[in-house]
Amino acid sequence: VMITYIEPNGSEQQIDVPEGWSLMQAALSNGVEGIEGECGGSCACATCHCYVDDTWAERLPAAADNELEMLDNVAAERRPTSRLSCQIKASADLAGMVVRLPDVQS
Ligand code: FES
Repeated sequence: VMITYIEPNGSEQQIDVPEGWSLMQAALSNGVEGIEGECGGSCACATCHCYVDDTWAERLPAAADNELEMLDNVAAERRPTSRLSCQIKASADLAGMVVRLPDVQS
């Protein structure tokens, strides 16, 4: 599933994320610098914050309560399209999605 990650400095990386992997896992395995993922994906650190491109944000399953709570703790500005990338699982219907990374994660 091709996902485009855009770093705060504008550089783009396209990653073929295996289905079922989280966007955070794939970012870490591919050296995407704008995602830290300190807690390993258990929705407990908010250092995997990303901004989902507007056209995709509404297609994602809604954030669960624990994700919404953790989004209160993001280091960068929280926006309506803010999500935790460890809680977004790659699936075929997300092919082509674009996520932008905030300038700070912690
Ligand atoms: Fe910690 Fe996503 S990796 S909340």
